[in-house]
Amino acid sequence: MTGNIIATRKLCKTFSTGGLQQHVLRNLDLEIREGDFTVVMGASGSGKSTLLYALSGMDAPTLGEITFCDKKISGLSSDKLALFRRKHCGFVFQQIYLCDNMSLMDNVMASGLLVNRNRREVAAKANDLFEQVGLPARDRRKFPAQLSGGEAQRGAIVRALINTPAVLFADEPTGALNSSSGDAVLDLLTSVNQNGQSVIMVTHDLKSALRGNRILYLKDGVICGECDPGAYNPGNESRKDKLRSFLTGMGW
Ligand SMILES: Nc1ncnc2c1ncn2[C@@H]1O[C@H](COP(=O)(O)OP(=O)(O)O)[C@@H](O)[C@H]1O
Ligand SMILES: [Mg+2]
Repeated sequence: MTGNIIATRKLCKTFSTGGLQQHVLRNLDLEIREGDFTVVMGASGSGKSTLLYALSGMDAPTLGEITFCDKKISGLSSDKLALFRRKHCGFVFQQIYLCDNMSLMDNVMASGLLVNRNRREVAAKANDLFEQVGLPARDRRKFPAQLSGGEAQRGAIVRALINTPAVLFADEPTGALNSSSGDAVLDLLTSVNQNGQSVIMVTHDLKSALRGNRILYLKDGVICGECDPGAYNPGNESRKDKLRSFLTGMGW
């Protein structure tokens, strides 16, 4: 083992639209260490989501190599990639993707049963996670539309964690939430990371970025800078200043 949970070699992603090519990721060499809370920042349109989708095997790169736990995932068939994702990756998005016509519990069960056929075990794990995110039994029976944004996002995090993924990917997970719901979601991501799971989060706000112990800045399809402020420490103002001045230097 290299200590890296994910590594890329000359990763490129090019979109072709109407005969025009857009090189969104350019020869990106990146190593994500196991156990880190990695934050990806950059201007809107800089390719943050594209990078997250490539790292998680949700979208195939145009060129280059991606290894996950030292196993090459670039080049896998889409079926194999889907199996891999199910077992090793959890996803949380800004637009909370839950199935509208299923209760929160059923949303979580549906994901869990894809990997573990033992309904009793999956339900016990789901209830344990619901407990951890502070969603009481009555909320677990509700449909997404009957929940607040913050409750639904916490439910989506339970679904993302049901198969104990090695990496939790989060793409602007607090972008659609009010400040206190956003803080609750960030606290959850911090505790997931403190439990030993790696987290990779895209954000454009400082408050969210402070949760990371490594902040990468993406510009013109390459990582143009990084800041390693050490582990999250809410009372540490100099850590915040360090990150703020790094971001200012990056043109944030
Ligand atoms: N499926 C796609 N087809 C064509 N262009 C895309 C596609 N996905 C993203 N892009 C383009 O790639 C660029 C980066 O997008 P994205 O990764 O979503 O940026 P970010 O998340 O940093 O805002 C944008 O210019 C966007 O329009
Ligand atoms: Mg995005």
